[in-house]
Amino acid sequence: MRLFTKTIAKTSRTLAASIATIVLSGLMSSTMAADIPTTYENSCAACHNSGALGAIKKGDSAAWNKLKQQKGMSALVNSVKSGMIQMPAGGLCSDCSDEDYRKLIDYMSE
Ligand code: HEC
Repeated sequence: MRLFTKTIAKTSRTLAASIATIVLSGLMSSTMAADIPTTYENSCAACHNSGALGAIKKGDSAAWNKLKQQKGMSALVNSVKSGMIQMPAGGLCSDCSDEDYRKLIDYMSE
């Protein structure tokens, strides 16, 4: 029974995510590779979801806002582009623009 409930919950989450993706991709212009949540999942989440290797976690608003205040958004974008100690250059996103990185950083700060 518990397993069943879990499966249902998982399925409806996946379904909701797919619907969101379809709705979003319809709204996005064709020049954009992917929406921000998808890009996040495909690139940044590997480290920023769990805080692996000491990465600032997604959703840790306090830490992100402090970093934004201290360094400023353009410095943060440059950090991702050129890489840091543990973070690979580009943060595993090969086709992200500066604007994408800004949005991804805001997305992680929420
Ligand atoms: C392989 C793991 C990894 C991936 C993938 C990754 N990061 Fe990071 N990120 C880190 C780590 C670890 C740090 C902390 C600094 C360090 O040790 O390199 C960091 C720090 C940052 C910072 C702070 C930079 C600064 O100047 O302090 C930003 C912004 C950031 N990541 C954005 C991103 C974005 C956006 C993506 C996806 C496009 C991404 N990261 C993908 C591991 C990763």
